[in-house]
Amino acid sequence: MEKNRRDFMGMALGGFAAIGGVGALYAMKRTWDPLPSVKAAGFTTIDLSTMEPNKLVVEKWRGKPIFVLKKTADMKADDRDVVIGSDRFHVSIGLCTHLGCIPAYEGAEHKFKCACHGGEFDASGRVLKTPPPSPLVIPPFKIDGNKLVLGETGPEYKKMQDAGLIA
Ligand code: FES
Repeated sequence: MEKNRRDFMGMALGGFAAIGGVGALYAMKRTWDPLPSVKAAGFTTIDLSTMEPNKLVVEKWRGKPIFVLKKTADMKADDRDVVIGSDRFHVSIGLCTHLGCIPAYEGAEHKFKCACHGGEFDASGRVLKTPPPSPLVIPPFKIDGNKLVLGETGPEYKKMQDAGLIA
């Protein structure tokens, strides 16, 4: 009788462990699954038509955070902006050029602020306050209609490169 009870307890615990294991595997798979925006072979496609002005979107490309910010009409235009029709976007790798922290976007001030050593960037990724030695880096991109393809080098990116705007 005692043995049967132990067997039952063992089976029940085993069952719980199995369910837990499946849950953990599912959670891991979800973590590993690429975001819907991620295509294959290191390219990330972002639909810019759904972006709201002054709301920072952080995407992921090749393991790095990517900042995409749709500018409002009153935000200063910059040669580093990605322009689609009448809309302007700031796109950069979201890592501070000082020591690689991820700056936070302060929408009210239109600034990226780095908590690590107090560095600041404007909404175009240009340095407002050191220690960052250079602007936020623009990743290789291509414009495809309303979409931004990260990891491809389009004519707009090449133009920025030729103008010396890409670090
Ligand atoms: S890492 Fe950003 S200011 Fe130092």
